[in-house]
Amino acid sequence: MCGIVGYTGTQRASQVLLEGLKTLEYRGYDSAGLAVLHQGKITVEKVSGRIANLCEKTHDGLSVEGCTGIGHTRWATHGAPTDVNAHPHLSNDGRFAVVHNGIIENYAALREELRAKGYTFRSETDTEVVVHLIEMYYQGDLKKAVIKTVARLEGSYALGIVCTDHPNTLFAVKEASPLILGIGAGENFFASDVTALIAHTKNAVYLDDGELAELTGEEVRIYDCTGREIQKPVSRITWGMEAAEKGGYEHFMLKEIMEQPAAVKAALSPRLKDDEIVLDDFELSGEYLSRVNKILITACGSAYYAGCAGRYAIEKLCRIPTEAVLASELRYCDPIVDEHTLLIVLSQSGETADTIAAMKECKRRGARTLAIVNVVGSTIAKLADNTLYTWAGPEIAVATTKGYTTQVAVLYLFALYTARKLGRLDGEEWTGYLREMRMMPRKLQETLDLSHPAERIAKKYRDARSLFFIGRNTDYAVAQEGALKMKEISYLHAEAYAAGELKHGTIALIVEGQPVIAVCCCDELSEKTMNNIIEVKTRGAKVAAIAKPGNRAILSQADDVLFIADTPSVFSPLLSVVPLQLLAYYTAKENGRDIDKPRNLAKSVTVE
Ligand code: F6R
Repeated sequence: MCGIVGYTGTQRASQVLLEGLKTLEYRGYDSAGLAVLHQGKITVEKVSGRIANLCEKTHDGLSVEGCTGIGHTRWATHGAPTDVNAHPHLSNDGRFAVVHNGIIENYAALREELRAKGYTFRSETDTEVVVHLIEMYYQGDLKKAVIKTVARLEGSYALGIVCTDHPNTLFAVKEASPLILGIGAGENFFASDVTALIAHTKNAVYLDDGELAELTGEEVRIYDCTGREIQKPVSRITWGMEAAEKGGYEHFMLKEIMEQPAAVKAALSPRLKDDEIVLDDFELSGEYLSRVNKILITACGSAYYAGCAGRYAIEKLCRIPTEAVLASELRYCDPIVDEHTLLIVLSQSGETADTIAAMKECKRRGARTLAIVNVVGSTIAKLADNTLYTWAGPEIAVATTKGYTTQVAVLYLFALYTARKLGRLDGEEWTGYLREMRMMPRKLQETLDLSHPAERIAKKYRDARSLFFIGRNTDYAVAQEGALKMKEISYLHAEAYAAGELKHGTIALIVEGQPVIAVCCCDELSEKTMNNIIEVKTRGAKVAAIAKPGNRAILSQADDVLFIADTPSVFSPLLSVVPLQLLAYYTAKENGRDIDKPRNLAKSVTVE
C-alpha cells in the first residue's frame, strides 16, 4: 500500500527521502516520487515502477537540491500506475505539493466543483483534489488552508504537504491512515511506518486521527482539527535497524519464518507470570466474561485463518460459542452483535480497511472489542477497547509468517486466560497448559529443525498445476493457511478442503500425480484423515503429510512426512503451520518467484 516520507533539516532531502522510500518498499507499490523545496520552487520527480528508476532519474538524489521535501510510493487505486498519476501532485500555481496515502471517497464531486472553478487536473487520481483545495483555500496561512481542506474530505488520508511560502516546513495530516513523526536533532521526519525512521531517530510521535503537524528542522508543532496546539508524548522506538534488515537470509520471508521461536516467545513470556496469565495493562473480569454469550473473531487473509485456528482453542477451553468471520463479509452482513458479544480483531498491520470497518460496525452495535495487533499505535490498536500486541517485530515480507503465529499464540493465551477466569481450568490441567505455552518457543525451534525435508519435497511439486491441502478441525484451519501461503508466493493454484468433504465433490479432481498435502496433527481425528489419505492415494495422488512424532503409521501411507514437535491437538496449528510455510517458500524459490514481494499483493491493505 502507499508509503509516505517527509524530511526537513540540513541534509540533502532527496537522498533521505529515497532511503526512506526504500525501507517502505515492502508495503507494495507501483510508482514512486518526491518533491523538494529549493529557492522558492518545488522540484518534482516521479516515475512508474521501482524506486531504482527514481534513483536513476535523480542520480541517486544528487540532481535535486534542497533540504525539505516529501516522498511517496504509490499502489494504484484511482488511475493506472503511470508517471503522471504518481505522487507528489502539484497545485496549478506550482506553490503546493502533496503526497497521500488512503482514498478520498468524495473526490468525484470535489473534482467537478474544482473544475467548475477553473482548476486543471493533470492526473486521474483521487489525491489531486487535495492540492487544488489547498490552493483554493490558501490566503497566506497554510495551516488554515489545510484545516479547511480536510474538512471537505471524506475517506482516509495521511497527507504530506510542502509550500513554497514556507521553505523549511512540512505539514502532515492524519485521518484513518498511518502517520508517525520522527523527532531528530536539527531535523525532523514523518513516515507511514517506523522502518523509514529508525535509521535517523528512535523518537517518535504517533499522530491520532484528525491531527495536523507542522515540522521544521528545529521544532514540531501538533494541532487538533480546529487548529488548537496540543501536546503529544514522544515514544521510544524499540525496533532496531537490524530487525528491519534480512540478517543474512536470502529473503525476508525465510528470516521471518526462522524468527518465529523468538517472536512467539516475545508474545507469550511477558504474559506468563508464575501461575497466572496477565493481559498487559487491563483485565477481563470473570464477571464480565460470564456475561459474554458469543465471541466473534474478525480479520482478513492469514489473520482470518489465525482466527479459524484460535477459535477451536477458545471453544474447547471456554465453552463460549465462537465464530471466525471474514471482515469483508462481517461489515456488510447486518451482524447479530450486542453488548454480550466480544469481538476479537486480528491484524498484523493494524491498518486493514475491511477489518477496521467490520470493527466499527460491531462497536456501533455494542460489542466490546479486543484487538490483537502487531503494529504499535496503529488504527486498530487505537480503536479497540483493549489491545494485546503480538510483539512480532517488523514483518517485511508481504506474505505473513511470524505475524500469523504470534496471533495464534496470543489467541491461545486469551483462551487459557478466559477459561481460567470462568473457573473452567484448574489444578494439573491448568499448570499443564501453562507449561505447554512456556515450551512453545522451544517446540517451534524443534519443528523448524524437523522441517528440512520441505526443501526436497518442494522440488517434486514445483511443476504442479494445483495442490490440495486437507485436514480436519484445527488441521483444516492450518490447511487453509498453508494453501494461501502456497498461492500467494509460488503462484500455483492451491485449495484447502475439510478432509471429510472430499467425498462430497472434490475427490473427482484427484487423478494420477495430484499433490495432496494432508495435515494430520489432531490426535482424535488422525485415523479419519489417514483414511482420506488412503482414498486419495488409491486414485493416484502423491501425498505429503504433516504429523506428530507418535504417528509412525503415517510413514507407510504418505509419500513424504514432515513431523512437528509433540503438543496437544488444540495447540498444534502453531507448529504445523511451520512446514507448510517452508513448503510454500521453497516451491516459490524453485519457481524463481519474487518471494518477498509477490505480484499484485500489498503488505498493508488500507483500501477496501
Ligand atoms: C497473507 C497476508 C494477508 C494478511 C491480510 C491481513 O500472507 O499477509 O492475507 O494476513 O491482508 O493483514 P493484517 O493482518 O495486516 O490485517
